[in-house]
Amino acid sequence: MTFASVLENPLYLRRDVLYSLSPPTGFLHRIGQKNELIMELAPILMGSAVSCVFVYGNPGAGKTGILLSLLDELKQEAGSRSMKLKTAYVNCSENRTETVILLEILNQLNPAKNYPKMGWNRAMVIDEFSSALDDKDTQLLVLLDEVDYVLKESGDDILYRLSRINDTVKTKVSTIVISNDVRVADYLKPRTRSAVSRVKVIFPPYTDEELYDILKARSSHAFKSGVVADHVLRKIAEIEAHRDGDARKALELLDNCAKNAVAKKRAKITLDLVNDADATLERDQTLNIITSLTQQQKLVYLSILKNQASIMGGMDVYKLYQETCSSYNLKPLTERRVRSFCVNLKDLGLVESEVGWLSDLKKKTRRIEVTLDDALKEKVVKVLRDSL
Ligand SMILES: Nc1ncnc2c1ncn2[C@@H]1O[C@H](COP(=O)(O)OP(=O)(O)OP(=O)(O)O)[C@@H](O)[C@H]1O
Ligand SMILES: [Mg+2]
Repeated sequence: MTFASVLENPLYLRRDVLYSLSPPTGFLHRIGQKNELIMELAPILMGSAVSCVFVYGNPGAGKTGILLSLLDELKQEAGSRSMKLKTAYVNCSENRTETVILLEILNQLNPAKNYPKMGWNRAMVIDEFSSALDDKDTQLLVLLDEVDYVLKESGDDILYRLSRINDTVKTKVSTIVISNDVRVADYLKPRTRSAVSRVKVIFPPYTDEELYDILKARSSHAFKSGVVADHVLRKIAEIEAHRDGDARKALELLDNCAKNAVAKKRAKITLDLVNDADATLERDQTLNIITSLTQQQKLVYLSILKNQASIMGGMDVYKLYQETCSSYNLKPLTERRVRSFCVNLKDLGLVESEVGWLSDLKKKTRRIEVTLDDALKEKVVKVLRDSL
């Protein structure tokens, strides 16, 4: 292959459209959810704060995209009514403590101040946050996305604070919280639960008909005309609907089919490419992720994979890691660092892990489980060893 041959391919019109968060033709099949959210958020336009609307749904259910587009609509509407409405979007998988989240909101409210992400203690941040919210004619709407991360790792302080903030500041603060995990309320302390859990909007997985429509609309912008047949889209929709009803994965699978068609110099995406693309997708992704790990992350992952037991505790991992380090003649990092690498590996989908009780221990620990099948595990171990 050459760059020129890829650019001259007869298939793609605009590949990036397949991955854009907001679809060129708008979001499909979410009218019920949108209406519910509009009802919940409308009081903001009447000058009242809305406390913690919860939005739940599996990955790829359209939560982030739809909420961000609604926030834009809301801001426009507020603007046309000369109301002052500011919004802040925080992804909690990248901002995992109350302090960091508050700093991120402050940075979005006031970019010129360039708040440092490190070096400020909690009390300083809380003071600054309170004094930034001193205008009674302004409203602030905070969207906390992927909130599971912060709840599981550093507790519910941020939600508690935001749910009570209107008692202490002049600006009216509303909050929307997005989570993958419907059991998210289990991570809330009772004092917070009573303040936040009133409204829930659920984004269910997409059905095959819905996925088909989403793929169809997107493919008309991503591919040249006549390149993708309807039965190909139907097949992809069916495969993904039987899994998680995930629109992102359906679009990815379509892209993978197209990539394979380009590589094979085909002029069309045909049905036979779908199964092949589906089979290679998971494998490729895992191997791609592995090569992007840092040396220390690789050492930790290798230690986990080399262990015979598929389920282990945090302390086991650390011991194995120390052993691996000595066999590679490297100085081990502290247990705390290794614990955070385990969290990274989990976020990347390379292991499954939860904080909980291991049967033979008397205290809570991180429980780590390897979910790769044996063939892939072997391949991954080889790639890791080769790259260390
Ligand atoms: N109803 C829809 N119509 C068109 N495209 C959609 C729809 N829902 C999701 N998508 C597309 O699927 C992809 C994933 O959507 P989004 O990121 O909003 O999902 P999410 O629910 O936030 O997932 P996660 O929980 O993984 O963050 C995006 O490219 C988005 O444009
Ligand atoms: Mg999202």
